[in-house]
Amino acid sequence: MADLTSNFIGIKSPNPFWLASAPPTDKEYNVRRAFEAGWGGVVWKTLGEDGPPVVNVNGPRYGAIHGADRRLLGLNNIELITDRPLEVNLEEITRVKKDYPDRAVVVSLMVPCEEGPWRDILRRVEDTGADGVELNFGCPHGMAERGMGSAVGQVPEYIQMVTEWVKKHSDYPCIVKLTPNITNILHPAKAALAGGADAVSLINTINSITSVNLDTFAPEPTIDGWGAHGGYCGPAVKPIALNMVAEIARNPETANLPISGIGGVTTWRDAVEFMALGAGNVQVCTAAMTYGFKVVQEMISGLSQYMDEKGITSVDEIVGRAVPKAKDWQDLNLNFVTKAEINQDLCIQCGRCYASCEDTSHQAIAMSEDRVFTVKDDECVACNLCVNVCPVEDCITMREIPLGEVDERTGKPVETYANWTTHPNNPSVVAGE
Ligand SMILES: Cc1cc2nc3c(=O)[nH]c(=O)nc-3n(C[C@H](O)[C@H](O)[C@H](O)COP(=O)(O)O)c2cc1C
Ligand code: SF4
Ligand code: SF4
Repeated sequence: MADLTSNFIGIKSPNPFWLASAPPTDKEYNVRRAFEAGWGGVVWKTLGEDGPPVVNVNGPRYGAIHGADRRLLGLNNIELITDRPLEVNLEEITRVKKDYPDRAVVVSLMVPCEEGPWRDILRRVEDTGADGVELNFGCPHGMAERGMGSAVGQVPEYIQMVTEWVKKHSDYPCIVKLTPNITNILHPAKAALAGGADAVSLINTINSITSVNLDTFAPEPTIDGWGAHGGYCGPAVKPIALNMVAEIARNPETANLPISGIGGVTTWRDAVEFMALGAGNVQVCTAAMTYGFKVVQEMISGLSQYMDEKGITSVDEIVGRAVPKAKDWQDLNLNFVTKAEINQDLCIQCGRCYASCEDTSHQAIAMSEDRVFTVKDDECVACNLCVNVCPVEDCITMREIPLGEVDERTGKPVETYANWTTHPNNPSVVAGE
């Protein structure tokens, strides 16, 4: 079995699968059971400052988007940070860390944007023996209205300032958790780096309203007739998270900043994708909330088998492997040519490919009277829309046209690599250069 041990900014864990700060990590009972199930680490549910406990709504706090098979694709929540007393959480963290010294226990924190409260809570956390802190600059509802969470994460100067306080008042490895509710993830990532962060984690949840009740005309989840935006997570957000992770990993200024990847991780494959795009480990919330703690066992065995098959001996060998291949559009090879190809043995003649290509793509699929569907190579622009709408996996594939062979659509042979920066149609390309 492959060696799955992980060392993320000096925090060791038996595997790279951590539970993200959320209900699965809100109390000792959960975290002990999570560790027994095999999770490598946890980021404890966000702690706030001492004082009157946080008050959550007592109505529904979740909204969801389901697939046709009622699989949970996206989850929206309006929960706040922990509503349990600080002292109780700290005692539990201390006990758990003592009993599971080989697991990572990171404490998520969110206190008002002033140096005093940050200094005070860090002192208290230090007594727990936890391995590090994560600064929650991501929660998009409730706490943001009080000047915390994403209200901090949306202002790079605040991120830098608070991170500096944290590094000044503690020796803890410091992970800054970023909000995706911004236009350019590089600004907050650079601010975290400038403040001395040891790593960033992303993404926290995305501002969202999942649905509107058409009888009451209130957004859902509805609390006594009203709704508020919540935070979206689960498989649906993975593409957004992957892109943000890659943006940080491939930018020269932030390329060496360690990343903990979060957002829709449900299987070992998701985890490997995050790591290949630059994440040193991954954090999981919705998958554990949907399938229970034992979902990690599939992740562990799947990753292990994948590594064995590929001859990969350590998880670090995966980290960043796809980063050199993540480019800007202008760097893509405009001379690369493929054509759709339909496997008649697999085709169930549903006609979806025909409808989508005929109505919204390039009229490149022919339908015979007896419903045989074939691709017209002289029309196909290789958009692969048909591949994506076909209900039969691998029924339509994209065939690469080799160098030198004629593309029937253009009538020209396929040429070697050339991108937009050198293309003759690009007005900024100076002729002859
Ligand atoms: C109900 C719920 C509560 C959450 N509470 C917190 C929190 O207290 N602190 C935090 O940093 N993130 C919190 N999150 C965000 C998750 O840690 C994670 O960033 C997000 O859910 C994306 O991961 P996922 O797609 O695996 O769920 C919460 C998420 C959910 C669903
Ligand atoms: S790849 Fe695009 S253009 Fe070609 S057949 Fe499919 S939908 Fe039509
Ligand atoms: S969408 Fe797929 S299964 Fe349906 S007709 Fe086209 S190729 Fe056949």
